[in-house]
Amino acid sequence: MDSLTIRRPDDWHLHLRDRDMLRAVAPESRHFNRAIIMPNLVPPVVTGAQAAAYRERVIAAGFANPLMTLYLTETTDPADVVRAHADGIITAVKLYPAGATTNSASGVSNFENVRPVLTAMEEAGVPLCLHGEVTDSDIDIFDREAMFLDRVLTPLRAAHPDLKLTLEHVTTAQAVDWVRAHPGTGATITVQHLMANRNDMLAGGMRPHFYCLPILKRGTHQRALRQAATSGDTQFFLGTDSAPHPTHAKESACCSAGCFTAPHALPLLAHVFEEEEALDRLEAFTSLNGPAHYGLPLNDGHLTLIKGGPQTFPHRIEAHGQSVTLFDPGHPIHWHIEAPA
Ligand code: DOR
Ligand code: ZN
Repeated sequence: MDSLTIRRPDDWHLHLRDRDMLRAVAPESRHFNRAIIMPNLVPPVVTGAQAAAYRERVIAAGFANPLMTLYLTETTDPADVVRAHADGIITAVKLYPAGATTNSASGVSNFENVRPVLTAMEEAGVPLCLHGEVTDSDIDIFDREAMFLDRVLTPLRAAHPDLKLTLEHVTTAQAVDWVRAHPGTGATITVQHLMANRNDMLAGGMRPHFYCLPILKRGTHQRALRQAATSGDTQFFLGTDSAPHPTHAKESACCSAGCFTAPHALPLLAHVFEEEEALDRLEAFTSLNGPAHYGLPLNDGHLTLIKGGPQTFPHRIEAHGQSVTLFDPGHPIHWHIEAPA
């Protein structure tokens, strides 16, 4: 197969940031129609009014169809969440365990304190997106997701069986199994977790552009993710977690977590799905399963991926005073997106 036409995709997990960085990266997601926009700004997006204002800034920066989220804190007002959802301002609420990742200091430490808001969301049908890692310093970083499933997610699901859950950026076979064992739960998978494992990040030199959270795991987990993504199983769909950081913050003694994949996510995915002999299931992963999970209509348009010679993607984007380096899988990619006629 040397060309593949799919329904226009969506990105169910995207970081766009704010100000100059927002203006630099928003146009890079142009191949996606909608995207769930993460709220971990500084300060975070915690109220419906803040989400409405951020939405306007995202649209002004060039991304037309943002689906906004609220950052759940222990002082979030349940009524504000329910109103923002009913008014169409937000699509979901994001739960970060405190300290889990970039700008997550205002996240949840004591889950008892968010019971009332979770109950209100369950009753009103507001989806919850979860960063699924425990953050206790004594838990090994490679075990944090698996530990979250047992310690947090299983009890949370039992306490709120009707709460619509999306487990974000799953990275382990345990998470894949958990999702399959809990019908109705959705899970996003990133491009980098499909393309790479911890050897790619650490063997023969430490590569900061592979560093993200949850951290890349061993190859057996990468294979489980590839199997889930290419299976056609409707519970799994694309959330790039494209997370831009300035190049100097990535290439640093204490590197920031995040891979910037928005510009070339679709060619990279075509490469993965071709390797897995599953190109016929790429559309389900990028364009069908996500809308079904969120109860949203499918996009109207289509785009075509073409297979040709090795592609050259820009090493980095430079715009609005920002330099952001693209994730480079380290081997040639032969797919590109056909330019619109
Ligand atoms: O690698 C990551 N980067 N993981 C996250 O959860 C957050 C993100 C960011 O905002 O930079
Ligand atoms: Zn993220």
